[in-house]
Amino acid sequence: MSFFQGVPVAIRGSGMYAPRKVVTNNDLSQIVDTSDEWIRERTGIQRRHIAEPGELTSTIAEKAGRAALENAGILPSELDMVIVATNSPDTLFPGVAPKVQGLLKAENAGAFDVQSGCTSGVYSIVLAVNGIASGLWKNVLVIGAEVLSPLIDWTDRNTCVLFGDGAGAMVLAPSNGNGRFISAQLKSDGTKHDQITFLGGLIENPASHETIDQKKHYVAMKGNDVFKFVNRVIPPFLKTLCEDAGMLPEGIDWWFFHQANQRIIERTAERLGINPERVFINLDEYGNTSAASVFIALSEFMKQGELLRGQKLLFTAFGAGMTYGGVIYES
Ligand code: UT7
Repeated sequence: MSFFQGVPVAIRGSGMYAPRKVVTNNDLSQIVDTSDEWIRERTGIQRRHIAEPGELTSTIAEKAGRAALENAGILPSELDMVIVATNSPDTLFPGVAPKVQGLLKAENAGAFDVQSGCTSGVYSIVLAVNGIASGLWKNVLVIGAEVLSPLIDWTDRNTCVLFGDGAGAMVLAPSNGNGRFISAQLKSDGTKHDQITFLGGLIENPASHETIDQKKHYVAMKGNDVFKFVNRVIPPFLKTLCEDAGMLPEGIDWWFFHQANQRIIERTAERLGINPERVFINLDEYGNTSAASVFIALSEFMKQGELLRGQKLLFTAFGAGMTYGGVIYES
């Protein structure tokens, strides 16, 4: 059974922040052997926002967090926990979340990071919901934030066209009758841990001249293997997630897929028999913002004002690990 127990938990507010600097596909075609046509056709991405030097994950996480708190009408001092989902922390330690908690002056809150590839956002939502549902916490700020651009090899066309920087956030709190998280499933296939990696600088490959020469301080990805893994695993996973919650995929009103590749999203939607108009897509503007992607998607969707009470939302992601997961919400 994958249902949340205890106090019903609602999304009280959302927000986002994307760095101002925009890099287009044509810009990239000036630095690697690629084209606007190839990137659009194979991924759906047109632009991505890239942080300026000095603009850190904590910097943009704070901005997204403030936007979500304002949207929720909740003060930083009312927070019990700040969770940051990220794969690009400013430093290994301290984590990003304690820095953000300090910047926000959320003096009553604890803080921790969640790192589980691009699925970190979905994992952190589930942790927050359980913490609130059990009565341990009341108001939780969950932020997905990435400044991946310094970790990308800008001479590698296999990766540099895909990722973007950005942050999104949700404020979660006990439901006042409007909205509740229904169910979730978090999964992993660790036998595929070599498909998306960043190997340099830690225990396995301490930083050295060799690790730099071997380009171990950059994201590496077996893109086509990831593509095949996701196309095989994710559609049946999502079908099961819906069925376990007592519904069919067509019973979900709005789909928030990890914004990695439009072909993956469309193929998954087709296999599940979902109406494409119910699938939110903004990867054309932001690229793959990893742990931040589902938060940025929700924030932009909420600004459109299309959500009606009682509608079902499904957030899902996959990423390094290989991890994947999904969570269902009723508005
Ligand atoms: O958050 C999780 C992150 N990871 C993902 O979501 C990645 C999932 N995978 C994908 O999105 C796709 O596999 C990619 C977009 C990465 C690649 O698309 P593909 O259709 O799987 O292409 P491919 O890797 O099979 O490569 C096809 C060709 C290759 O050339 P040859 O060997 O056929 O001559 C690549 O070298 O496309 C070439 N290629 C490019 N060409 C122009 C790879 N990247 C580029 C590029 N521009 N940027």
